[in-house]
Amino acid sequence: MPGLPEPAKKVAERVWAMGAEPQDEWARAFRQEVREQHPRFLTAVRADAQMLARLRGDRWQTSGGAGAAFQVLRLIVVGDSFFAQVCYRAKAALQRRRVPIVPRLFHRLAIITGQICIGDPAILEPGVHIPHGQVVVDTRCRIGTGVTLSPFTTIGRIAGKAGGPTLGSMVTVGTGAKVLGPITVGRGAVIGANAVVLEDVPDGAVVVGVPARIVSK
Ligand SMILES: CC(C)(COP(=O)(O)OP(=O)(O)OC[C@H]1O[C@@H](n2cnc3c(N)ncnc32)[C@H](O)[C@@H]1OP(=O)(O)O)[C@@H](O)C(=O)NCCC(=O)NCCS
Repeated sequence: MPGLPEPAKKVAERVWAMGAEPQDEWARAFRQEVREQHPRFLTAVRADAQMLARLRGDRWQTSGGAGAAFQVLRLIVVGDSFFAQVCYRAKAALQRRRVPIVPRLFHRLAIITGQICIGDPAILEPGVHIPHGQVVVDTRCRIGTGVTLSPFTTIGRIAGKAGGPTLGSMVTVGTGAKVLGPITVGRGAVIGANAVVLEDVPDGAVVVGVPARIVSK
């Protein structure tokens, strides 16, 4: 992240990751730098819709803007939590543009309609699959394209450590799983239902249990 000197970033990240309000200019600047990494609204919603349609087994390729808009509207109606995901995307995109207050309303709507609670410092790349809602994603973390977040999953930080997980593309997080702390889950990994993942997971590995252990690669 350009803009801030390295020591300033470290202090600001620690303050933020511990859940404190930014106290000074450094922390505020750091927060804005992170927010500017949120994807653009239309790019994100279109990719989310394609991913959901594809994994539902629906026709997912669309031609032109009208086809994409129809797909999004259809999924808002038939998808369990797609409306909430769109509200989250609106929140993130508005924060990116430094709009005050309105992002809070979209955040509230995402929680009310789909129990999707995604904190400000989390970056979700376009094309994240949330089939049913009921997910919590918080702290500084990054969720890659094609990641599936099943119901009752939590992606967050662990006491005493700054920062959260980085999930590579096409990771599947099983229902009830928790992925905690500044760890990396490699591309295409599968996290079993109810697993608690506290350490790095290699690309393509399947992990289960508490704490999670690798059962296959
Ligand atoms: C993790 C998972 C993908 C494993 O699939 P798999 O690669 O076919 O693995 P297996 O079923 O052969 O199981 C391998 C071992 O892990 C164990 N295991 C599998 N899933 C487990 C889980 N969630 N928790 C604890 N142990 C698990 C099995 O008992 C087996 O143990 P053993 O070798 O001692 O007999 C699957 O069990 C799972 O949890 N999927 C998530 C499903 C889900 O959340 N769906 C979303 C619904 S909305």
